[in-house]
Amino acid sequence: MTTVENATTVEDTATAAATGASATERFRTDKTLAADTPPERVSLLAREVLEAVHATIRKHDVTYAEYDALKAWLIQVGVDGEWPLFLDVFVEHVVEEVANARREGSKGTIEGPFYAPGAPEFGAEGTLPMRDGEPGTPMTFHGQVRSVAGVPIARSTVDIWHCDDEGFYAQFAPGIPEWNLRGRFTTDDEGRFTIHTIQPAPYQIPTDGSTGALIRAADWHAWRPAHLHLKVSAPEHMLITTQLYFPGDPHNDDDIAAAVKPELMLDPRPTADGTGVDVEYDFVLDPA
Ligand code: DHB
Ligand code: FE
Repeated sequence: MTTVENATTVEDTATAAATGASATERFRTDKTLAADTPPERVSLLAREVLEAVHATIRKHDVTYAEYDALKAWLIQVGVDGEWPLFLDVFVEHVVEEVANARREGSKGTIEGPFYAPGAPEFGAEGTLPMRDGEPGTPMTFHGQVRSVAGVPIARSTVDIWHCDDEGFYAQFAPGIPEWNLRGRFTTDDEGRFTIHTIQPAPYQIPTDGSTGALIRAADWHAWRPAHLHLKVSAPEHMLITTQLYFPGDPHNDDDIAAAVKPELMLDPRPTADGTGVDVEYDFVLDPA
């Protein structure tokens, strides 16, 4: 599409169908789906989930009409390719809570459906790939990676991704350059990194698909507060997947994905020239 007549804005084309299908494709490509769960555990987990469903039906006298509406909706989530979106919004936060309960280092939170491995590599300091005149407040994000013993970790990896000023993620919403606002940094001898980017906007999960239909039918809202996504890792340490948030965001207290934690709140300061913000956050990695 090169002609002006055919040009569409990201907003026009960033449909749930497009975003959901990309997230489903990405999940199938990137995740190891080998099922080595023993039958006893499959039986236990499946039975208890089903028992919870049965108990809800009895408790609330669920009707055939409601049962059929549920069936139709479940079918549509698959058709829309929205299972990654739906599960990461409504279920992943508890999986993360259980997985990371014993960590002493930095808090984790959900990965969400929009990670893309293999982002462009930088040294300890660099500017994330962005379009000419990328909208948004310029932001410098810097910090240090340390072990739980307080020792700086040189050559650790800080893999960052975030949405743009409209709430759209490269590779998932169409029309954005492949690696926009995504990059991997390697910390210096003192474990430090400095990332130049723009502040992400609050993010509304796509509302035009089946997840949106549920949100509307239940009279919920679809917002996540503005956030940075990170994976921080180093040899002989546990990788942490986390997000960082901005104070004052109206949805810090009612994130649809329930992924905000007080330890993950940033403290951005306006830069001396008043054109942007400077923000510092250190990561502490548990031993492997
Ligand atoms: C979803 C999107 C995100 O950006 C995120 O961080 C978590 C979940 C989602 O749409 O499912
Ligand atoms: Fe996100």
